[in-house]
Amino acid sequence: MLSAEMVRILEKQRLGFVATVSAEGRPNVSPKGTFVVMDERTIAFGEIRSPNTIENLKHFPAVEINFVDPFSRKGFRASGHAAIAAVGTDSYRRYIGLFERWAALSLRIRHIVVIAITEASCLTSPIYDDGANEAEVRSQWMRTLQSDD
Ligand SMILES: Cc1cc2nc3c(=O)[nH]c(=O)nc-3n(C[C@H](O)[C@H](O)[C@H](O)COP(=O)(O)O)c2cc1C
Repeated sequence: MLSAEMVRILEKQRLGFVATVSAEGRPNVSPKGTFVVMDERTIAFGEIRSPNTIENLKHFPAVEINFVDPFSRKGFRASGHAAIAAVGTDSYRRYIGLFERWAALSLRIRHIVVIAITEASCLTSPIYDDGANEAEVRSQWMRTLQSDD
């Protein structure tokens, strides 16, 4: 089940790294920036050009996703089972409105992948093990990522 903080991170980032496994047992990780929260146990993303992820999920619907805020160096991992709604189906028509914020990009969504979450847990950088302060970590990474070098 997603905590309020996990929902906040997902809705801020929208970007999760999706891990799947092929029928031959080969691992695959790829980013998806179209994540939405449907409820505290269900999230979804739009498949626009992720043929391997879709193929893998058709064979084996187990999935894990990592969401990380690059500034605070905190996030969460969620695992569960994916259901695929292909364009032209009733399920697709029911869910596509969730992707309106992506405007023209949403017109290219070929499948909506709906993930029923079975487990979710927090991720934190080891820097927090030594008592680092989140505001300081955040401002340090803001400076680093904004600088030209
Ligand atoms: C920041 C970022 C966000 C992305 N968001 C999506 C997305 O929401 N949906 C999608 O299908 N592809 C998205 N992509 C593109 C896929 O990750 C990319 O096409 C990848 O090669 C698909 O690999 P796969 O077939 O192994 O899943 C995104 C890529 C990046 C870098």
